[in-house]
Amino acid sequence: MPDLDWNKSTWDGAYDWSGRGHEWSGPWGNSAGMFFTTIMPRIAAALPADSLLELAPGHGRCTAFLLRFCRRYHGVDLSQQCVDYCRLRFASRPDAAFHANDGLSLAAVAEERFDLVFSFDSLVHADLPVFEAYIPQVLALLKPGGVAFLHHSNLADFPAVTEFQHRSTNVSARLVAKLVARHGGRVLVQEVFNGGPAAAYDGFTLFGRGEDHPDVAPQVIFNPGLMGQEGELSRRAFGPYLGRLPPELTA
Ligand SMILES: C[S@@+](CC[C@H](N)C(=O)[O-])C[C@H]1O[C@@H](n2cnc3c(N)ncnc32)[C@H](O)[C@@H]1O
Repeated sequence: MPDLDWNKSTWDGAYDWSGRGHEWSGPWGNSAGMFFTTIMPRIAAALPADSLLELAPGHGRCTAFLLRFCRRYHGVDLSQQCVDYCRLRFASRPDAAFHANDGLSLAAVAEERFDLVFSFDSLVHADLPVFEAYIPQVLALLKPGGVAFLHHSNLADFPAVTEFQHRSTNVSARLVAKLVARHGGRVLVQEVFNGGPAAAYDGFTLFGRGEDHPDVAPQVIFNPGLMGQEGELSRRAFGPYLGRLPPELTA
């Protein structure tokens, strides 16, 4: 299981960050393709955001794009070296703040309220206790009408799989949905998809405060072709155009 000690020792020590995370954008051709074909359509309704919180930004692979669509940004990561790197990388944005945490507490941003809380490709490595800690805090941090978009493991639905790319084996979309409901939130859209070779190793959960969405029935989507279809769209159709975006986006 990728517990907090594993995450801390990996991302704050053992991992070679010289690729800045762009090495994980391979299926899309580049990070712009990943952001605009897979992430953007799923969060576009919440953008532009007056205030945005990113959980676990790493070296800012998504942050570079998110900063184009928000006025005020906070990033919280358990790796001090990731926080230090992002502070330097985005120093020209005084409206962006980065905080190191213990992997569980969002106390650093407790005084803020957010239109969008976002996390991509990070909490797939987080075990259930991290979601038990983060979900009530995230719900309390949302502005009225705000939403959270979290990318997480779905491997708890595949008990025969004991290891796949260090994804958590005790988190699933179902368990995340239960936590959201237990803390008064409402799931708006859940999508399980093929983060790996099998049909549904990963999940995206979009949720808000229950009182803001009393009549919304959660949409649950099984999307086993996500990586293939969106990766191909990105690489073949948009790749040449997206590859011409300003270099600071993919630095
Ligand atoms: C695989 S990297 C992904 C970074 C970035 N989201 C990206 O897509 O390039 C995982 C990141 O998640 C952070 N992380 C893992 N567990 C965390 C937790 N419980 N709270 C905050 N950050 C966490 C790590 O420190 C690391 O920066």
